[in-house]
Amino acid sequence: MAKRVVVTGASSGIGEATAKLFRERGWDVVGVARRGERLDALAAGHGIHPVVADVTLQADVDRAREEIAALGPVNALVNNAGGAFGSASVELSDPEDWRAMFDVNVLGTKRMISAMLPLLRDAARADGHADILSITSVAGHEVYESGGGYNAAKFAEHALMAVLRLELAGEPIRVLELAPGMVKTDEFAVKRFGGDVERAASVYAGVDDPLVADDIAAAIVHAIELPGHINLDLVTIRPVAQAAQFKVIRQPLVPKN
Ligand SMILES: NC(=O)c1ccc[n+]([C@@H]2O[C@H](COP(=O)([O-])OP(=O)(O)OC[C@H]3O[C@@H](n4cnc5c(N)ncnc54)[C@H](OP(=O)(O)O)[C@@H]3O)[C@@H](O)[C@H]2O)c1
Repeated sequence: MAKRVVVTGASSGIGEATAKLFRERGWDVVGVARRGERLDALAAGHGIHPVVADVTLQADVDRAREEIAALGPVNALVNNAGGAFGSASVELSDPEDWRAMFDVNVLGTKRMISAMLPLLRDAARADGHADILSITSVAGHEVYESGGGYNAAKFAEHALMAVLRLELAGEPIRVLELAPGMVKTDEFAVKRFGGDVERAASVYAGVDDPLVADDIAAAIVHAIELPGHINLDLVTIRPVAQAAQFKVIRQPLVPKN
């Protein structure tokens, strides 16, 4: 029987690419997001099971859990829904942006983990193990100016995953964190900069071979398809051109003479 994975934020970017790749690899895929029309297109084109839900709303997560439970056990949960809103300083940023970032990146992840754990345990009993993987960010490990709210949310999501790994020790459930650096996706930076497409494009300007959603999807699927006793518990993944959050090379990469 095909294994089942639940991917949150499957309607665009990394989540969409991950949902498609899992389908190609023969998994049953449940895609969760708010934009039903985008999930429907994925369902029609790739056979994912769409579940329209806002992970920041407990009633939506409860309904999603019912819909997913009706399908059967869940072998893997990929918490990918998230994002950054705003780029102002700690002093000047809008607390509502901070609240929104905390809601989706931290509480959304927590809600989905609580909802899915019984179904993950069912799969672990049947198949030997199950997985919870969250997409945090290097912003959850390194701070930078104008990153305050996103840094705080992703540091918290990282902490949540680290605590969860301790709490689930003794069960055959891997807790994995993938922390990407900059990834060139269509919507992430546009949302961060309030719809400013030009400013969003400038983030990736001149970067030789930036990471794209398919690259992160490949890393996610690889981590989850490794034998069940191997836990890539924390993986940082960046383009070669990004040596650190603050050190991005914006010219072709060439060997020194
Ligand atoms: N791109 C990067 O440079 C980068 C780097 C490091 C980490 N990340 C992290 O990677 C993840 C995906 O980023 P991305 O670049 O693929 O961005 P994206 O294209 O904006 O994807 C975000 C996804 O999350 C979903 N989502 C947002 N709020 C939601 C909610 N309340 N309930 C359910 N789904 C929700 C969105 O779908 P709907 O709007 O349809 O709900 C969308 O599918 C995020 O957690 C982000 O923080 C991204």
